[in-house]
Amino acid sequence: MDDSEFERNNELQIRAMAADTSLETLTRQWFDRSIQHGYSYHFRWMGLPVIQYPQDMIAMQELIWRIQPDVIVECGVARGGSIVYYASLLQMVGRGGRVIGIDIDIREPNRKALEAHPMAKHFRLVEGSSIAADTLALVRAQIRSDETVLVVLDSNHTHDHVLRELELYSPLVRKGSYVVVFDTVIELIDASFDDRPWGHGNNALTAARAFLATNPRFEIDHRIHDKLQITVAPYGYLRCIAD
Ligand SMILES: C[S@@+](CC[C@H](N)C(=O)[O-])C[C@H]1O[C@@H](n2cnc3c(N)ncnc32)[C@H](O)[C@@H]1O
Repeated sequence: MDDSEFERNNELQIRAMAADTSLETLTRQWFDRSIQHGYSYHFRWMGLPVIQYPQDMIAMQELIWRIQPDVIVECGVARGGSIVYYASLLQMVGRGGRVIGIDIDIREPNRKALEAHPMAKHFRLVEGSSIAADTLALVRAQIRSDETVLVVLDSNHTHDHVLRELELYSPLVRKGSYVVVFDTVIELIDASFDDRPWGHGNNALTAARAFLATNPRFEIDHRIHDKLQITVAPYGYLRCIAD
């Protein structure tokens, strides 16, 4: 099978998967159940916890290879595994890319582990709310206007917060790159998030939909969630289609 036949075959299989409602039901059930076991907390990248489902991290690797960004801006650092993951991929891409990680609360042990990490010189930390004017100003000051930027939103998942992040950070993204909105899955599963300010009707997916309704520069890349199936970001991989 040559490469184009391989890809044609994949396309057909992905389309069939996307239309398979039984698989979708099973996936939602599996997802709900996996949350009960704290599934997303069980993985590390280069020693640091990365609070994600591994499928999304492979999707991010594919995006980073395709886009080859100069800068990845991530809102929501937590224990640092995701920014280290993106920084290490950028090193492998070999174009000197860097990561800017924003978090409202970078706890001391996490900061120490990040500062001591072999990837430390390939990311910068900004402490502050992602939607505060001075945080955005600090981020913007580190990015030149001709640089290719990929944005990842993974902080506070309420509607208002994510919508504001989309408004503030999407202007950094140019045609061909993406804003990735994590945890849109909250809207689509049965699990309730009683200990969190977000939940059904108030989350990253409701925000992404509101943003898309008035921002024709972006569209959902359906192919990504169609092929992942297991993802925290269904309808959350937003491709920029116009400068
Ligand atoms: C889901 S965790 C991030 C996980 C991380 N991206 C990873 O993949 O390992 C969410 C983080 O968002 C941070 N956060 C919450 N509200 C925030 C805000 N207003 N601005 C910036 N960060 C915020 C929290 O402190 C927490 O560390």
